[in-house]
Amino acid sequence: MSILAAMQKTKMIPEKYKQMSREELEARVIEVKNKLGSRLYIPGHHYQKDEVIQFADATGDSLKLAQLSAENSEAEYIVFCGVHFMAETADILTSEHQKVILPDMRAGCSMADMADIDQTERAWDKLQVLFGDTILPLTYVNSTAAIKSFVGANGGATVTSSNAETMVKWAFEQKERILFLPDQHLGRNTAADLGVRLDEMAIWNPNTDKLEYEGDISKIKVILWKGHCSVHENFTVQNVKDTREQYPDMTIIVHPECRREVVEISDMAGSTSYIINAIEKAAPGTQWAIGTEMNLVNRLIKNHPDKKIISLNPHMCPCLTMNRIDLPHLVWSLDTLEDTANVIKVSPEIAENAKLALERMLINS
Ligand code: 13P
Ligand code: SF4
Repeated sequence: MSILAAMQKTKMIPEKYKQMSREELEARVIEVKNKLGSRLYIPGHHYQKDEVIQFADATGDSLKLAQLSAENSEAEYIVFCGVHFMAETADILTSEHQKVILPDMRAGCSMADMADIDQTERAWDKLQVLFGDTILPLTYVNSTAAIKSFVGANGGATVTSSNAETMVKWAFEQKERILFLPDQHLGRNTAADLGVRLDEMAIWNPNTDKLEYEGDISKIKVILWKGHCSVHENFTVQNVKDTREQYPDMTIIVHPECRREVVEISDMAGSTSYIINAIEKAAPGTQWAIGTEMNLVNRLIKNHPDKKIISLNPHMCPCLTMNRIDLPHLVWSLDTLEDTANVIKVSPEIAENAKLALERMLINS
């Protein structure tokens, strides 16, 4: 479901939760957690706020959270602290008796909303005419369940930023070409790292329904959906230049959702977990400029006082949709576990093929 559709069925949080003090809210979470024990499971993505992440039973990047959801068959209530597509993934990978709850239905992902199923089907029809049966679709998990289902039905798989290389290699073992949805930057960065030349990559523009490419189309190996992350696109080449000038000893590490030009001139690039591991392993006194979401960067700064850590972009904000999940919404969702308002339920018709796409990724990861 797109975030627009989700918002149409959004029930707003009652005012009383906004009036509660931080202490009252925290006490209520502890009370519910103690009462329900293993019947309740709270996974939290690394981009979540500290006030929420402190109560997570597990934290992780999108791959780890998908793996954990697939493994958990015990919890009756999975209160997912992350964004809509992650909760959909958890619902697809868990059993019928398990209920996945998103504390705020407005917690979407602008990137996932850049590919809808009608656009994708139109694109596919046109690409089949141009290239015949030579293309395998891959979708970043940051996509709707309907896109995952389309990809699964057409032999493809999902990818995350931590297994994108493995999955692109896997895709090239099946077919000559890849359609990579919806993040052009992750697709471009991954393919380029695997040796695909930039002139072998085309862009599919879903707004004009056209392929953007100059030259002989038989040379195209990767078709990149024209989508992006509005957070990671805010890291620029100028940010890298300014950081190098001001802090010549700093290591620049960025997420592969950043533009190719930024990744190319940075020192290291990798998923959220890759960034966290690099900082954890780094020697005291080392200096880091990080190009990723701000809640995570601030947490790394707080947890590593022995290292100098800054955001690559000094004017960066957190991901606004990740930030919709706050303590009042968490408490509200815990108080209304039997309510259906915030339940994420992917229809069985969509879930079946979406699960195929996810499983093809999980067995390769
Ligand atoms: P990862 O968790 O795969 O690093 O992805 C980052 C992201 O943008 C999640 O929305
Ligand atoms: Fe989506 Fe970007 Fe936010 Fe991740 S950081 S949830 S990709 S908008």
